[in-house]
Amino acid sequence: MASGAELTGRRVVLVVTGGIAAYKSAELTRLLVKQGAEVQVVMTEGAKAFITPLTFQALSGKPVRDSLLDPAAEMGMGHIELARWGEVILVAPATADVIAKVSAGLADDLFSTIALARRCPLVLAPAMNQAMWSNPVTQANVSRLQKLDSQIHIWGPDDGDQACGDIGPGRMLEPQVICDQMVAFLAEDKPLHGKRVVITAGPTRERIDPVRFISNDSSGKMGYALAQAFVNCGAEVVLVSGPVNINTPAGVELHGVESAAEMLESATQAVAEGCDIFVATAAVADYRPASAAEQKVKKSADAMTIELVKNPDILSEVAALEHPPFCVGFAAETQKVVEYAQQKLSRKKLKMVIANDVSRSDIGFNSDHNAVTIVTHDKVEPVPKLNKQDLAEDLVKHIIADYEKTL
Ligand code: C5P
Repeated sequence: MASGAELTGRRVVLVVTGGIAAYKSAELTRLLVKQGAEVQVVMTEGAKAFITPLTFQALSGKPVRDSLLDPAAEMGMGHIELARWGEVILVAPATADVIAKVSAGLADDLFSTIALARRCPLVLAPAMNQAMWSNPVTQANVSRLQKLDSQIHIWGPDDGDQACGDIGPGRMLEPQVICDQMVAFLAEDKPLHGKRVVITAGPTRERIDPVRFISNDSSGKMGYALAQAFVNCGAEVVLVSGPVNINTPAGVELHGVESAAEMLESATQAVAEGCDIFVATAAVADYRPASAAEQKVKKSADAMTIELVKNPDILSEVAALEHPPFCVGFAAETQKVVEYAQQKLSRKKLKMVIANDVSRSDIGFNSDHNAVTIVTHDKVEPVPKLNKQDLAEDLVKHIIADYEKTL
């Protein structure tokens, strides 16, 4: 049995549908909340015939969501946001009707819309009369869902006495069993739960005067995609970002900066507050003007010279700390990609360098795709061309595997 607050901060959308087992969902809510989970209850119209929303509101501490067309609720967290907010959507009880709906891909109420819009796992805890469960249509719906989507899980049902007097399979699992399974499930799904990741991203701007700056070519897309992938693995993510045009991924703490000096300050501060993995994707300007003019520089001379001084190397400074996090750097090169990456790995005292060939126009800067080579002290591993989000997920898996070896 789960003992402590093992679901602290985990976000569960609990969908209660219209079956007699709905009364057990109140106890399930209490158990999940006791484990520290944030529970957002969604009720179908059918569920409200068995139990009141007020019960769930009192137990979860949040107003129940029950309508797709409630402007007040949509003003807060819209249904798509709600689907993304959840780390898991748990449907308990899941009636035969609800399973059929999900299997058919209908989206005509709040629950079915969330089920279709979600990116997270969907857990169904069936509860119905044994004949309904054994009916080939229900069985076909269940197998179709399992075949179609590896993120859909069916927990139960139990065998035994039923509310209608029948005996057989169809009882919803006991709330304590579902809660314990949820603790184990979320622990497995989130290998970085309890870990903190700091990522630098985007370009920096080094001021010449109030209207001019020196900068680098960088969209920030790779860093933002990595931030999302780390959040998906359960990490707490701080993203220290130069100016970019990308929305901040849900669940990421953004620290917006402009210059390399600001990025260094913000990143070292975030690392000092606790950091297990540090990933530097930022295209930091190597040099900055020795001094920035306070007023706009007027053009008069035919030529002008700006004295540049070297910027601090943020990644090297973090890697040189007494107790450094697991440090990962990026290397954008136009030639000798692997060789330069290996040199960077040693010079900056890193655990991994992700190298990309920026001489190729189909990948890299400002592109939605990238192809990279992972370079560590014991391997050189090419990763084929992928879109940046898929690549980020792949890279995060490699980073976690190597990071876990250092524990
Ligand atoms: O030395 P180079 O700029 O090629 O190294 C690239 C790696 O170092 C990237 O991970 C980049 O984010 C990081 N870097 C940094 N601070 C700098 C320059 C680069 O963190 N001033």
